[in-house]
This record gives sequence, C-alpha cells and structure tokens, in this order.
Amino acid sequence: MSKHTIVTLPGDGIGSVVLMQTLRVLDAAGFNADYIHGDIGWEFWCKEGNPLPVRTIELISKHRVALFGAITSKPNDEAKAELDPSLQGKGFSYFSPIVGLRQHFNLDICVRPCKSYKGNPLNFVRRGKGDCVEEPLIDVVIFRQNTECLYSGVEWTSPPEQVYKALMTHPKFVENFGKVPVEELSISTRIFTRRATERILSAAFEHARKYGYKSVTVCEKPNVIRETSGLMWKLAREIHKASYPWIRLLNTNIDAQMMWLTKNPEDYGVIVAGNMFGDIASDAFAGLIGGLGFACSAQYSSDGIAVFEPTHGSAPKYAGYDISIVNPIAMIESACMMLDYLEEKEISVRIRKAVATLIEEGKVRTYDMMKMTGRPEVIENGAASTVQMTDAIISRIV
Ligand code: NAI
Ligand code: MG
Repeated sequence: MSKHTIVTLPGDGIGSVVLMQTLRVLDAAGFNADYIHGDIGWEFWCKEGNPLPVRTIELISKHRVALFGAITSKPNDEAKAELDPSLQGKGFSYFSPIVGLRQHFNLDICVRPCKSYKGNPLNFVRRGKGDCVEEPLIDVVIFRQNTECLYSGVEWTSPPEQVYKALMTHPKFVENFGKVPVEELSISTRIFTRRATERILSAAFEHARKYGYKSVTVCEKPNVIRETSGLMWKLAREIHKASYPWIRLLNTNIDAQMMWLTKNPEDYGVIVAGNMFGDIASDAFAGLIGGLGFACSAQYSSDGIAVFEPTHGSAPKYAGYDISIVNPIAMIESACMMLDYLEEKEISVRIRKAVATLIEEGKVRTYDMMKMTGRPEVIENGAASTVQMTDAIISRIV
C-alpha cells in the first residue's frame, strides 16, 4: 500500500491536461501515492445537474487531500441550456464547484506563493537609478481569507423588509440611501468573523516564522472600511504582540499596495488579506512572476482537508488543441505545495530545483514564456508543448 492517498479532480479543459502531466512529474520524483479519481465540473452538471457530485465530496471527506485541475463555469442561463434535456425544468441551478468545495469543507485559508524564477523571461522588470533596468526577485506569499467578505454570497437586490428595516437603523444608511426606493437597492455584505480572521492571521504569522520571512503585511483598508478591515488590523496587532513580536508588522491599503507593487515588490514577504483584497493582491503579484502559467495555490480547512490547485481556469479555447500548449508549471508548483503539506519536502525540493534549472537554462519554453499568442502554430514556431515541457522538467529531476 502506498504511503499517501490523493483524490485527483481533473475537472474541465486544460485542468485535466495539466493534472495528468503533474502526476507524471510526481511519479518521476518518486512520490509514492495512490490516486483516486473524483468527478467534478461541467460534464457532471450537464449529465447529473450537479457539478460537484456527493460521491466526490465523500471521497475528499475520506482521503482529506485533493489535487484539483480547473473547472469551467458559465452564467446560469447558459448552464441551464446545456443541461441534459431529461433534467431541464426540474429546478437545477448551477453553482461553481470550486466555490462549493470551499464552502462545504470550510477551506478558509488560501495560500498563494508568488516567487520569481531566475531567468524567467516573464519576470517583472523596472527602470532603476540612472535608467538601468532592474529585475527584482520577488518572494511573496499571500494568505487570503477564503470564505467570508464580499464573496460569501449574502446579498440582495431589493432587500426584504426585515433587512431594509435593519439597515434603516444605521444613520449612514439613512443619510446616504434613505430616500432610494427599495427595489433600486443592490446590497452585497462584507462580513468578517473574529474566528476566521484570527485563523488567517495566525496562519500568515506562522508561515512567516516557519520560513523566515521578515515581515507580515496586512493589506486591507481600515481607514475607510472601519469594521471589517479594522477588525483584521486590530487582531493582527494583538497576535503580533502576543506571539510574533520579532516579525515586522506592516499595514498597507489595497489601493496603495497595487501602486507599490511595481515600485518595491521585493520588500514584501507574507501578505494577509480578506477574501476580495487577497484575490486582487494575489493576481497582481502573480503578474510579476509570470502570470497564470506560474500561479499556484493551496486551500486548507481547520479540520485537515487540503485542496491544491493552480489559480488559472480551464482555458476552454486551448482545451481542444491536438497538442496541448499550456504551461504545466502552475499545476506542478501546486503539487509541490501538497508535498510540503504531506512532509515530503525532499521530493518537493527536487521538483522545484528541476523547474528552476530548466527555466534558468532557457532552452525549453511554453508559448506564454515566449510571449506568443496562444495558437496551435506556436509549436512550429519553437514553443514547447505541455508534454514537452513536462518531459524537460522530468529530465532535470536529480
Ligand atoms: P483561464 O485562467 O482559464 O484562462 C485565461 C487565459 O490565461 C487563457 O486564455 C490563457 O491565455 C491563459 N492561461 C491560463 N492558464 C494557462 C496556462 N496554464 N498556461 C498558459 N496560459 C494560461 O480564465 P478564463 O478564460 O477567464 O476562464 C475560463 C474558464 O475557467 C471559465 O469557465 C471560468 O469560469 C473558469 N475558471 C475556473 C477557475 C478554477 O477552476 N479555479 C479559475 C478561473 C476561471
Ligand atoms: Mg482571482
């Protein structure tokens, strides 16, 4: 019997392509695991009216660790039109299975490392003193609260009477919106809870301690969003003072952070934010290290469920190519995060070294690394296919 059991969730489009290639890398590096396939995604929505079947939830509940590719989501009207005719008109409504996974398992901690590889032609460069060109090497890890904030789905257009009445008890609401007809109101709530906020902050500080990052930056907007961002900043100071006083604690507003991003990205270590600002900050930093082909992530619950996935989607426009052209590195990096989590650090170090060596050599590059537009011809024009890139990484594992 293998040491680990991993639920693989290929999903749709390029999700299954990059996942299959990543399993080859794991095998080649000597990771000893049994993989159990889990159904997820568009096919299961169309066939069963549920993109996240109960049997898949049960598999993850049992085995605790999942590697996920990507899924396709479409707006509700398109989703309904593609539903099997036998299921149409029976009250099925589409939801994103990845959001469903986060909610079902309360995967409240999302970790998104953004680390530049030396020699990556997609690395961020800036003009330095005397007009020289500088290429700052970035090593930032974003901790994004994954279940609350503006993404929790507590929202209304034309809110029900009780909600309206409650809002009318707030003087600011009366002053700014008291005269707006109720049917013209759209409201999305930004809810932070103390427990979840403490968890994401503690995870961020703990990561900084464990991996030697010098600073933790809270990236919110407490001067304006006083209650929710304010709560995060207040708890950050408390946790910092009580348990991590030697780590530098910084506070940036999300808007200013987006500006500083290109001025001094190398000055940041761990960044922690609520769901929406964490989403924004992690995409922004990912752009500095090569974009979607390099952006990996992990999501954890408090009771030991962990799901690892690239942050990119299913890229349907590339899914039907005879020869796949997408970059597998984001998925491979996500698998390395899984290896770290499973305390298989020796294997993850070897895989990351192989990726680093390959990038620094600069001989094998997928189309995105060659700044080409993604078309089938990129292969004739010298870009490596997904499989060739994977082969090249495997050949550099020592
Ligand atoms: P996407 O991430 O699938 O693709 C956007 C573009 O990024 C692609 O057209 C391609 O140019 C590039 N790209 C993505 N992955 C790449 C890779 N590995 N290598 C090289 N280039 C890569 O996002 P898009 O097109 O907005 O959404 C497509 C579908 O994916 C939608 O149905 C969307 O709902 C879904 N989606 C799913 C996610 C998930 O499963 N976690 C996350 C984001 C989108
Ligand atoms: Mg995003």
